[in-house]
Amino acid sequence: MLKFKGSLKISGDKSISHRALILSAMSTGASKITNLLESDDVLRTLNILKRLGIKIIKKKNYWLVYGNGTNGFIEPDVFLNCGNSGTTARLMIGAVSSNPINCTFIGDDSLSKRSMSRVTTHLEKMGALVNLTKKDYLPLLISGSSELLPKEHIIQKASAQIKSALILAALNIHGKTTITENIPTRDHTERLLKYLGVDFKIIKNGAKSKKIIINGPCELKSKNIQVAGDPSSASFFIVGALVVPKSKITLKNVMLNPSRIAFLDILKSMGGSIKIKKTKTACGEDIGNITAEHSKLMGVTIPSSKSAFLIDEYPILSIAASQAKGKTIMRGLEELRHKESDRIKSIVFNFKKIGIKFQVKNQDLIIFGREIKLEKKVKIKSFNDHRIAMSFSIFNILLNNKLEIDNKNCINISYPDFEKHLNYLLKVNNG
Ligand code: S3P
Repeated sequence: MLKFKGSLKISGDKSISHRALILSAMSTGASKITNLLESDDVLRTLNILKRLGIKIIKKKNYWLVYGNGTNGFIEPDVFLNCGNSGTTARLMIGAVSSNPINCTFIGDDSLSKRSMSRVTTHLEKMGALVNLTKKDYLPLLISGSSELLPKEHIIQKASAQIKSALILAALNIHGKTTITENIPTRDHTERLLKYLGVDFKIIKNGAKSKKIIINGPCELKSKNIQVAGDPSSASFFIVGALVVPKSKITLKNVMLNPSRIAFLDILKSMGGSIKIKKTKTACGEDIGNITAEHSKLMGVTIPSSKSAFLIDEYPILSIAASQAKGKTIMRGLEELRHKESDRIKSIVFNFKKIGIKFQVKNQDLIIFGREIKLEKKVKIKSFNDHRIAMSFSIFNILLNNKLEIDNKNCINISYPDFEKHLNYLLKVNNG
């Protein structure tokens, strides 16, 4: 059997790449972005910003973004196509809402089934005019205004995209916008804003809830942004190394933001041998190297309180769980149903074909770990979901290439170098 060996610099983080582009576009002056993730999703954001009048140029080792300020978007003469990217749609709808322009956002079939009203109800409350398809979906037309009203928002769902959309809108709203988040989510927008010199407040209210207060309009100073490696992309190889015998890898330049690396704690609690070494801090984010080695895993219970910090890692955690001794209970996965595919369905559809036992009880997923040996090829459906395709590509190494994944092109959505990096880690010491 092949094994994972060697070390590798992980590609740029998707969430930070979107935000680096958008916030540079909303700064005044030129920003240099290095290690930008050039994936389908991120390029959607980049092209939309260009349509909104932002000059963006690719240089040999970096991107140059010429920002026009927080009120500098010009009305596009084409539909803004978000492709498959929920982050592009939600964040850009927020960003344009406080500019006096009309924009029509469109997306692919999957994105057109994902809720946009979770963002637009807040924007409408401030005075933006929005026309949604079937009251919730793309295509949507938004008529923004430079006279949106500062309001108090309480976000009921655990969603960094809603929070970030409102923060981006608030940057060009005159007066005090307050955003209360009761369930903590990834905080890259807040960290980057601090780095860009924006004067805003975060008031903690107990262990979980926090209030973000932005007194706009704000000025963002253009600064160079270095994008750290994506921990969600790293998670595939980390689980690969844990489950495939005789593996040991080190992934370098990985972002260590606590809201993104909760999966490492889960894998450690399952018995995974994982070492984390912080090497530096860049643009408000800690960065370091992660070493993972083959380990015997045990089933665990993952409470719903952890789900916001694990949201993108459940598919690959399910693969780890399928190889753990005993059962793993993942509670409170409701938001997983609203991703690029219904990820609970996508996981269990394929587990059934492979012979992994599971139970779905409301929004909980229970996986019964067992050793699997496949005699015949099994067809796997990715549901055009990049994280499903990558998770089963990793499982395929353990299953001696017995899985046939229907569509791997979707991997370009978040990790165009996945296949190259996978082959590199498998070949380094395997001849
Ligand atoms: C993201 C937030 C998450 C995550 C997505 C990227 C972001 O979505 O699933 O891949 O960059 O803000 P929600 O916070 O809406 O769940």
